[in-house]
Amino acid sequence: MFNDDDDNQQRLDNALSRLRTSMSGQARERADRIAFINSLYIGTKRDDKLNELVDLLVGNAAGAAHGEPGKRRALFVIGESGSGKSTAIRHLIANRIEFRPYDDGSGQTIRPMLSFDAPSPLTLKLLAKVGIEATGYPIFGRLQENEAWDLFKQRLQGSSVLFLHIDEMQHAVKGNNPTKLQHLADTVKSLLQIRDWPLHIILSGVPSVIDFLDHDDQLKNRSMVMEFAPQTKAAAETVSAVVQRIVEKHAGMRLSKNASDEEFVFRLIHATNGAFGTIIQVVRAAVEHVMMHATDKDGEPVPEVVSLNSFAEVYSAFTGCVPAQNVFKVKQWDIIVPSNALARMLKKREWDRKVGISGGVK
Ligand SMILES: Nc1ncnc2c1ncn2[C@@H]1O[C@H](COP(=O)(O)OP(=O)(O)O)[C@@H](O)[C@H]1O
Ligand SMILES: [Mg+2]
Repeated sequence: MFNDDDDNQQRLDNALSRLRTSMSGQARERADRIAFINSLYIGTKRDDKLNELVDLLVGNAAGAAHGEPGKRRALFVIGESGSGKSTAIRHLIANRIEFRPYDDGSGQTIRPMLSFDAPSPLTLKLLAKVGIEATGYPIFGRLQENEAWDLFKQRLQGSSVLFLHIDEMQHAVKGNNPTKLQHLADTVKSLLQIRDWPLHIILSGVPSVIDFLDHDDQLKNRSMVMEFAPQTKAAAETVSAVVQRIVEKHAGMRLSKNASDEEFVFRLIHATNGAFGTIIQVVRAAVEHVMMHATDKDGEPVPEVVSLNSFAEVYSAFTGCVPAQNVFKVKQWDIIVPSNALARMLKKREWDRKVGISGGVK
């Protein structure tokens, strides 16, 4: 018998297999090529810094075997939407041996790291419920807020969870008044003070999450913070290397001169508000645009070259802007206020892909 997850997986497999047979061989090949490119992780120095902070959390937890661990048990990872927080943390969790699931000797799989998204809109009761379910425990019947939190803590201990990651933590801050924020801060602190259980937590979200931290000095003293800051012109070299890596190494295409000079990199940083993940998504979309135009009007193959024009097409397709507002087209690109639509549309497109709604830039 399938459980719900297996059922959904089966349904998705069937739907995708049906979709694939209805596509042309060329379209299928393109979809697989872009899926391969999308699956590649791009590491930077930020990952080293994040790993160092997680080293501290892990070391602190391990120290609990020989007495009271240090009190810095929380790591806040903040950055604007599209800066790459979720992807970096997901990658780190998947690759750190300390977080790897293991067999406890009786055939039960233990997951030392539990990671889930904060629900929106967020109430504390709902947060605990989502957490309880994430430990694999179905909830029947109603629970009061304090009962839900007690059960969540029991479940964390009962499932031998030492590390907890909650993403999209800004949902906790949005629209909540100071009293509610204090209550939330107290609840998070209580997670860090479970008796005889040295839980360590990573909370990530947009910079307003800091409001939540600022609210409580005690919590601040128990926390470390890492910011996924926007890329600025000073990071042009890094950004340029990322573009080159995706186009040449990942996609096996050529990068034209007008899409590799310094001015181009500045345009790209400007168009994406410096959000690292959005930069990657835009370059991948430009690559896909070139794939979609792999033949000329007579059906003859043309060389795959990513140019400034590929980026202009992507920008216009995702923002719907007029040519005079296209950051990749006009001379005075730096006076254009970049469209927020770009990041939003790119996120939506990635989501559509995941659920099987295809769509490229024509
Ligand atoms: N290091 C990375 N390597 C490859 N792709 C990345 C990386 N960081 C971000 N991305 C891409 O950018 C998108 C947006 O990043 P995401 O992690 O969702 O940002 P955030 O969580 O800060 O809003 C991701 O879905 C992914 O496609
Ligand atoms: Mg995210």
